[in-house]
Amino acid sequence: MRRREFVHLALLAAVIAAATTAVAVLIPWLPVSASKERDRIDLTYWLATGIAIMIFAVVSAAILYSVWRFRVHPDDDRDGPPIHGHTGLEIVWTAIPTALVTVIAIFSAIVLHDNGTEPKNALHIAVTAEQFTWIFEYEDGPAKGVVSPDLYLELNRPTILEIESKDVLHSFWVPQFGQKQDAVPGRTNPLKITPTKVTGLNPKKAFDVICTELCGLGHSVMRRNAFVLSTAQFASWAQHLKGPSRPTGAAGPTGPSGSADGKAIFTANGCQNCHTLTAAGAKGKVGPDLDKLPAEAQKAGQPLEGFVHTSIVDPGAYVEPGFPNGVMPPNFGQVISKADLDTLVQFLIQSSQGGGK
Ligand code: CUA
Repeated sequence: MRRREFVHLALLAAVIAAATTAVAVLIPWLPVSASKERDRIDLTYWLATGIAIMIFAVVSAAILYSVWRFRVHPDDDRDGPPIHGHTGLEIVWTAIPTALVTVIAIFSAIVLHDNGTEPKNALHIAVTAEQFTWIFEYEDGPAKGVVSPDLYLELNRPTILEIESKDVLHSFWVPQFGQKQDAVPGRTNPLKITPTKVTGLNPKKAFDVICTELCGLGHSVMRRNAFVLSTAQFASWAQHLKGPSRPTGAAGPTGPSGSADGKAIFTANGCQNCHTLTAAGAKGKVGPDLDKLPAEAQKAGQPLEGFVHTSIVDPGAYVEPGFPNGVMPPNFGQVISKADLDTLVQFLIQSSQGGGK
């Protein structure tokens, strides 16, 4: 009799465990993993999930079985028998969770150590967060000296991001890479990424660099692309950027040819995130409407070309009434090459003079 009860209980637990495992495995709860660090985190996650499924199955099987097997009749008003505890049982239900939690702790400590250790061949990128964009500055490797608003990584190459903030708290997050790191003014916080999946230079396949700390009006548009390139592609990307045609090396999805058109430069630098410009299909509302640039220049009492140029490189010089100061990043003058800046200014002038058509 006791053995039959035990078999019933075990069968019930097995069915519950199978159903719960199916829910955990068959539904894609997480974005795809694209880094070794994320793989390790996922492994820890699955270890804990497996343990949780086991415990859930045993507990819910015991509850369901008791409800079914020991249910009292409606007219049974007797009290249950008094029980004084069971030392053996208490030792078991203390020892098993202790062992499980210890296993999770040891496993997590190993993953934390591996994810935090800097290997010898690591690439270093200084990352600056500011309202409301990211700036990536390559400190060594083939792209040394390059400054880019998007993140370009080399496949399988461990990369240390040295994350800083110019103004308020931000937080760096690429879901496919699996980790978040805060950007804190006055501090440099490291984050290691070893990418395992190539995206190429296609922005549609690129991963999102997301700001995941509420940082102001433009927080939700503080997004850039993260591209993962093969070793050869990374080297040629770096080579092009450091070529004579683009000495400051702003990188856009249009490729570093130096002949990008104004609209591509506009998009590559994320202007559409904050501004409206019909010619570029931009509908941002954080900053002034660029379809109305001639009227805004008139209001500022400046000639259009000079007004547009100054507004890009020194956005605090004149602030359109109704918009807060200090929202637009002040360093586009350094990030965008001189030739691209001229192209961009001409593009904005032509687009806005077309009356927003
Ligand atoms: Cu930066 Cu939110």
